[in-house]
Amino acid sequence: MLLSFLLNILLLFAKADGEQLWEPKNSQISVHNESALVIVNQMRFRDLKTGYMLGQFGLMHVVNSMPECAAACMDTDGCVNWAFSDGNQCHTYTFALRTRPRTTYWGFWGRTFEIKNPCTESLNLCEHGSICSPDRNTKTYQCINCPPPYTGKHCNETTELIAPTVLHDDILSGRNKSCRTLWYHFDIPNAWISYFTHPWNDERKIKIRCYRYTSMITTVMNDNQPVTDLTADHLVDGLDLTVPNFRAMTSFMQAYEKLVQFDTLVFQCYRQNMTNINLKSVYFHLSILNYFINATNTRPKFASEWLLTVDNKPWNGATSDGFISNSNVDVEERFYKNLFKASDGLEITFSDNLGKCLSIEDDWHSYTVLIQ
Ligand SMILES: *[C@@H]1O[C@H](CO)[C@@H](O)[C@H](O)[C@H]1NC(C)=O
Ligand SMILES: *[C@@H]1O[C@H](CO)[C@@H](O)[C@H](O)[C@H]1NC(C)=O
Ligand SMILES: *[C@@H]1O[C@H](CO)[C@@H](O)[C@H](O)[C@H]1NC(C)=O
Ligand SMILES: *[C@@H]1O[C@H](CO)[C@@H](O)[C@H](O)[C@H]1NC(C)=O
Ligand SMILES: *[C@@H]1O[C@H](CO)[C@@H](O)[C@H](O)[C@H]1NC(C)=O
Repeated sequence: MLLSFLLNILLLFAKADGEQLWEPKNSQISVHNESALVIVNQMRFRDLKTGYMLGQFGLMHVVNSMPECAAACMDTDGCVNWAFSDGNQCHTYTFALRTRPRTTYWGFWGRTFEIKNPCTESLNLCEHGSICSPDRNTKTYQCINCPPPYTGKHCNETTELIAPTVLHDDILSGRNKSCRTLWYHFDIPNAWISYFTHPWNDERKIKIRCYRYTSMITTVMNDNQPVTDLTADHLVDGLDLTVPNFRAMTSFMQAYEKLVQFDTLVFQCYRQNMTNINLKSVYFHLSILNYFINATNTRPKFASEWLLTVDNKPWNGATSDGFISNSNVDVEERFYKNLFKASDGLEITFSDNLGKCLSIEDDWHSYTVLIQ
């Protein structure tokens, strides 16, 4: 009797032996002189090491092991990425997680893998900071988020005259794109240190302070020194974000978010007596980010979407109307003016030479905006 069964063998880290991209490779192996026919179904994946996405964006599968999760991806129409966590949770996605970094929680305990495709084979296929997005159904890829002046299939064509340069592999492959990628690739320390980042994956650079994956995007001191307002125009040729007293305005943040895809905002001020007030958006509440980068005019709720702490202790007050910010504020000033107003009247606002750090006017020391 001929016994036929299917066996999925997964080669997770196999060495290149004639590239097999996009789809599983089948081979039939006869054992016991044709008394049994084994069909070996193998597929190659790239280990992404970290990165995990909430289930709501993918399909959930019930599995008992990591290979079963890989098999689920092999068998799911169009699956490109899969994520597995210790709790035997398996999620498969029809898009590469990197293409939606704002909904990806880096550093989570899960493991993620991407099917081998042209994007995983050539890390600089999409140039100048554009993101390689594979489509398994059509076996093609696109370079999304291509910044000007570049265009073309690989985001490497331009009519502007740009002198040829020899770029380091770190820059080309995006390892030094942002604080987050520096932290991910170089394990940078828990201290505020200045780095040169290359968000465009080319020679243009931004000098910026990072504390692990956190970037300082605004810092204003109560010292009567001039303050530079940064708008989208400042973000064309690279700049220095470590000089004293600069504020990133909304248009700047919108352009910067497009380049490096952050998802968490932290507004932080110190009082003269060094009491620290911290207003932080909670992970995955993209409504907050969308409001502040002017992707929507809907003001974010305060309760459950924000964490307000005073000297690291949760502050349990309420806002006067349940929302953050004030709809009358000019869009460009959303990060600064009437940021927060508690029902007892205490405010966080830094605009028009007026500073309030949940306390009386002018009793503030510094104001910073951080992104993660
Ligand atoms: C398989 O078949 C070959 C010849 O067809 C024979 O020489 C061999 O002994 C067989 N082996 C087994 C394990 O039955
Ligand atoms: C753009 O990138 C593609 C793919 O890597 C390459 O074949 C092509 O030569 C590049 N074009 C330019 C103008 O560099
Ligand atoms: C990328 O960043 C790391 C960590 O700071 C640094 O050691 C390396 O020199 C940088 N690479 C380039 C090309 O700047
Ligand atoms: C905010 O978004 C609106 C609608 O897209 C746009 O008209 C306006 O110019 C934007 N303002 C800023 C400061 O980005
Ligand atoms: C710091 O000053 C604020 C008022 O400006 C006050 O409420 C708070 O208790 C002070 N903190 C300390 C530690 O003195």
